[in-house]
Amino acid sequence: MAGKDKLDNYIDAQIKQIRQKVGGEKVLLALSGGVDSSVCASLLSKVIPGQLICIFVDHGFMRLLEADQVEEVFSKRRLRFIRVNAQKRFLSKLKGVTDPETKRKFIGEEFIRVFEEEAAKCGDIPFLAQGTIYPDIVESGSKKNAAIKSHHNVGGLPKNLAFSDLVEPLSGLYKDQVRVLGKKLGLPPFLVNRQPFPGPGLAVRVIGELTEEKLDILRRADAIFREELDSLKKRPNQYFAVLTNTPSVGVKEGKRTYQPVIALRAVITDDFMTCEYAPLSHKLLSRISARITGEIPAVNRVVYDITSKPPATVEWE
Ligand code: XMP
Repeated sequence: MAGKDKLDNYIDAQIKQIRQKVGGEKVLLALSGGVDSSVCASLLSKVIPGQLICIFVDHGFMRLLEADQVEEVFSKRRLRFIRVNAQKRFLSKLKGVTDPETKRKFIGEEFIRVFEEEAAKCGDIPFLAQGTIYPDIVESGSKKNAAIKSHHNVGGLPKNLAFSDLVEPLSGLYKDQVRVLGKKLGLPPFLVNRQPFPGPGLAVRVIGELTEEKLDILRRADAIFREELDSLKKRPNQYFAVLTNTPSVGVKEGKRTYQPVIALRAVITDDFMTCEYAPLSHKLLSRISARITGEIPAVNRVVYDITSKPPATVEWE
């Protein structure tokens, strides 16, 4: 599908279909704060005001302030917004886990458990809405990434949930069309223009075992890096920080330190299947390194990842 009129026609047709299908019944949605589920929630809150219930599971692996921002946006819309503060639960489930695939698997499983528990409290709801977009349907047929890492959207729910039908109003759209629709619906730029963010979030950007303290260090380093790159005229397609599990010796105020290394990743890509690392200027990198080590006492060393995909992947885990 291409063109503005076609998008408008598609949306008009979806609005009719949704109203016809759902009638006066309630609809449940697992809202992750990603572009697709956010646009889906926003559309449904306009089309069937008061009938949508959004469950937002805060697993504790979002970026700095992100969970609160999502809550702020959606608690103002005509829907019921339920935030589940499950941070402690996820951390205790992941205690001692270091293997990346096990982390991904545990987070996916725990997410489903939390969602099911919350959904059960909402009573009988016949419809489940999902922010599935057209490439999701194509990709799930081809199983492209399965052998490398188990990508999943937290919010990717099992097929056997007890709903009588699905509502997937974005399933004919590509990502850029979903962003256009999000803008039309008045969603703020930080939601509509979001870079890809793994479902397991920062849990796969803290290498090795997770702790609250490590997540906090990563959140702050990541926020500094993103703030600096956000102000560039020409931005890489995706950029974020990683907390490695390699401590290194350093010196601060004449005293020896032994602290984890922060790695910065910024990539240029069309499709995220391959990528080049972004050639950021040394001046910019120096400023970022000085800010991170200066503003975060727990960090004494910052490195820049200069690997393309392949042989690396975008995420470190
Ligand atoms: P990799 O690390 O496989 O990442 O080169 C390619 C792109 O996918 C994003 N990514 C994910 N997206 N769920 C997602 O929705 C996931 O589990 C996941 N893991 C990686 C990654 O950020 C990059 O944009």
